[in-house]
Amino acid sequence: MQDQDKVWIFDTTLRDGEQALKASLTEDDKIQLAHTISRLNVDVMEVGFPVSSPADFRSVQRIATEVKGPIICGLARSVAKDIEACGEALRNAQQSRIHTFIATSPLHLEHKLRMSLDDATAMAVKSIKLARNYTDDVEFSCEDAGRTPHWDLCRIVEQAIKAGASTINLPDTVGFVTPDEYAGMIRHLMNNVPNIDKARLSVHCHNDLGLAVANSIAAVQAGARQIECTINGIGERAGNCSLEEVAMIMKMRKDHLNVYTDIKSEEIYRASRQVAKICNMPVQPNKAIVGENAFAHSSGIHQDGVLKAQNTYEIMSPESVGVPSNQLNMTSRSGRHVIEHRLEELGYQKSDYDMDSLYESFIALADQKGTVYDYDLEAMIYFNQINDKDEKYQLEFVNSVSNSQSVASSTIGMLIDGEAKQEAATGNGPVEASFAAIERLTGMSVEMIEYNLEATGQGASSLGQVNIIAKFNGRPYHGAGIAADVVEASVRAMVRVYNLIYRAQKVSDLKQQRKAG
Ligand code: KIV
Ligand code: ZN
Repeated sequence: MQDQDKVWIFDTTLRDGEQALKASLTEDDKIQLAHTISRLNVDVMEVGFPVSSPADFRSVQRIATEVKGPIICGLARSVAKDIEACGEALRNAQQSRIHTFIATSPLHLEHKLRMSLDDATAMAVKSIKLARNYTDDVEFSCEDAGRTPHWDLCRIVEQAIKAGASTINLPDTVGFVTPDEYAGMIRHLMNNVPNIDKARLSVHCHNDLGLAVANSIAAVQAGARQIECTINGIGERAGNCSLEEVAMIMKMRKDHLNVYTDIKSEEIYRASRQVAKICNMPVQPNKAIVGENAFAHSSGIHQDGVLKAQNTYEIMSPESVGVPSNQLNMTSRSGRHVIEHRLEELGYQKSDYDMDSLYESFIALADQKGTVYDYDLEAMIYFNQINDKDEKYQLEFVNSVSNSQSVASSTIGMLIDGEAKQEAATGNGPVEASFAAIERLTGMSVEMIEYNLEATGQGASSLGQVNIIAKFNGRPYHGAGIAADVVEASVRAMVRVYNLIYRAQKVSDLKQQRKAG
């Protein structure tokens, strides 16, 4: 493909994304994320606004020194002190870019800047020229371009290019425009700015109306060749254009769009997970490309179809974006064929179980729990083999005491292999105290990965539902408990975890025995 078919990816997770977080990132967090983003093979990485604080200056400086690969970019308003701070912070970068901006819409000019478009143009020109003393790579943005008359944009853009800007960015700062309008704006500039061929046109969309990705793609179709975006779409208000979505759209629909990016799509999932974790911004389960459910097929018909031919219901493979393997969420709608296939993947042969009785237990569990996981399936096989429906650990009672003045305590009574036992423990709250008591009873300690408490039903009479993911010997187990009392629901979820661990151990013992004999 010709180079004019390449769309540059300008990542601004560490600038536009970071400025929207509830808690700013530490310098070390930013360095870690910068390395991750560079592994995605983005073309440009905007990593901060150096004049905004000494901490921002230092982190831009450190990233410029330590992170190799992409062009490292800093943001600056169109004023000398910003440009100087930016140029200074970027001094050690292998390749650097100064991104300077000024607002151009009548609304911003009148109320925010209180100046005319001509004044703004003069400031932009001066700043671009100053920035060129630090680097040949200068980007100029018309803030709120989406609400700027096209002919005003033409005037300032022509001057910005003349002053030395090689990238012209046209942000839809408030996420207001529609795809056809945005594409129209790009076309207008391409047709009416005489020196437009000397610059790359860039787009920067916010997602207030959920159109950031659609607008960016429409702009590319109209001739823009740089998209500014963030991982997981994090950013001001409703966020920015999501990097993984535009990258995968251009990859999957190359046939239609005739453009490409240099993004290493297999790095997407890892980057997304890291951004979500470090920025404490969870990804919604149904988020395109990186959501927990993005490759999870729940309907029986879909599951069956995917097993017969993946592309029946999957337009891209999970592996292509770095998701380890596709996940079939087993529910009461999953058929026998799906279960058989999953068990085969887990290393079971048909002779290991009786499908009729396994399926019966599966449906009962799926009705009770909604989703059935691999470890449930394995446990059911064990249950069916030993034909024993009784749990090893059975909760008899929970007696917890807590108040605002002293530590909480809890006594748990259980039947363990039919024998009544009880233990007491203290903790910061009744749940922690109860878990400590269970640990004493079972003699096993688990690592808590996730604890979620939600209400099932409505109002004060709703039930507490607790979901726990806990690890034992490196393997995660999911326990769920439901009760009117949230402490009891928590205990039930944890007891379930211990039963699953026990059952899984039995399964692996059985496997060992089978191997040996
Ligand atoms: O949204 C916006 O207009 C911006 C500019 C500073 C590029 O983030
Ligand atoms: Zn922005």
